[in-house]
Amino acid sequence: MRIRVALIVAACVLGSHAALAASAENGKKAFTAHGCWQCHGFEGQGSAVTSNGKVIAHTELPYESFEAFVRSTNGAMPPFRETILPAADLQDIYAYLQAVPKPPEVSSIPLLK
Ligand code: HEC
Repeated sequence: MRIRVALIVAACVLGSHAALAASAENGKKAFTAHGCWQCHGFEGQGSAVTSNGKVIAHTELPYESFEAFVRSTNGAMPPFRETILPAADLQDIYAYLQAVPKPPEVSSIPLLK
């Protein structure tokens, strides 16, 4: 039992370390280089040009689901396999999408009151 708890703690520590290692700055470059912006906008804000370019900034998908989707989608979005989009780049892209500044609250914009 104690060993299992220790393993879980170790996994959490190592896991969060890996997340910290991801670089939003590199992610921005990878997001541009791999063409994600063409459908999702340069900041993952979505796009009116492609009819269903989804908002993906601050995605609520946990990393595992995000990766699974990007690797294996077969709908309107083409899949990006590891041979063309290395895992490190995808982790950085995820970090970038989490780091994009959030828009202001609508209630904080006087003109919209
Ligand atoms: C050709 C246009 C296109 C490109 C390029 C593209 N996407 Fe997408 N993406 C889409 C569309 C359309 C959807 C919605 C499709 C669906 O739900 O099946 C989507 C959905 C997603 C989702 C799921 C969002 C959710 O919450 O369900 C993620 C994550 C995502 N894209 C990430 C990326 C990343 C990262 C890249 C670059 C490596 C990328 N996309 C490149 C068109 C594109």
